[in-house]
Amino acid sequence: MDNGDYMKLEFLGHSCFMIYADKKIIIDPFLSGNPSASKKMEEIKDVDMVLVTHGHGDHLGDAIEIAKMNNSVLVAMYEIVNYAKTKGVEKVEPMNIGGTIDVMGIKVTMTNATHSSDFEGGVGHASGFIVNVGDHVVYHAGDTGVFYDMKLIGEIYRPDISILPIGSRFTMGIREAAKAVDLLRSEYTIPMHYGTYPAVDQDPYEFEKAVGERSKVIILRPGESVSF
Ligand code: NI
Ligand code: MN
Repeated sequence: MDNGDYMKLEFLGHSCFMIYADKKIIIDPFLSGNPSASKKMEEIKDVDMVLVTHGHGDHLGDAIEIAKMNNSVLVAMYEIVNYAKTKGVEKVEPMNIGGTIDVMGIKVTMTNATHSSDFEGGVGHASGFIVNVGDHVVYHAGDTGVFYDMKLIGEIYRPDISILPIGSRFTMGIREAAKAVDLLRSEYTIPMHYGTYPAVDQDPYEFEKAVGERSKVIILRPGESVSF
């Protein structure tokens, strides 16, 4: 791969990932109050874009503070963006499920997630994201159960990297996430949303075993990253 294809994915714990490419993109920055966070909110610098899948505290997290501190663009569901504006976020890109927007040359699509969403003074719907970075297509599923339209997501967007929750209780567990892998057909799969609390304790190596040869499972500990 040449430099134009360079992409690094860093796992910051729970569902938070940083994408390093031409632009720096952080997804679901739950750092304050996150026992597994590898960085403090104050250490998040020069972020171009903040993506939020839904309003729950373990996803919206520090998004508003980080967007304000870095003057980054906040990309989220319409209702969350409106809330963020009342909290002083100036650069926003509201969207909704099925839509695709271009943010500083990066194509971002919002996908469905079968999950709830609420935040201080509002409700909305949970979502996931497809992010096009160079030659790579990253699918961050957000919080969700498995749903058959993941096949459609696989067919339309052809993500080569899928980031899926495996923690069970609040999202899919290992059995369902392994089925999601079949529907999405990504070359690489990265598990998330496990091990943060006892309530979502799952063994990622069991997930790797369940997936078998169908996708390369990349297990990242908070603070670790992988380049593509
Ligand atoms: Ni949630
Ligand atoms: Mn969650």
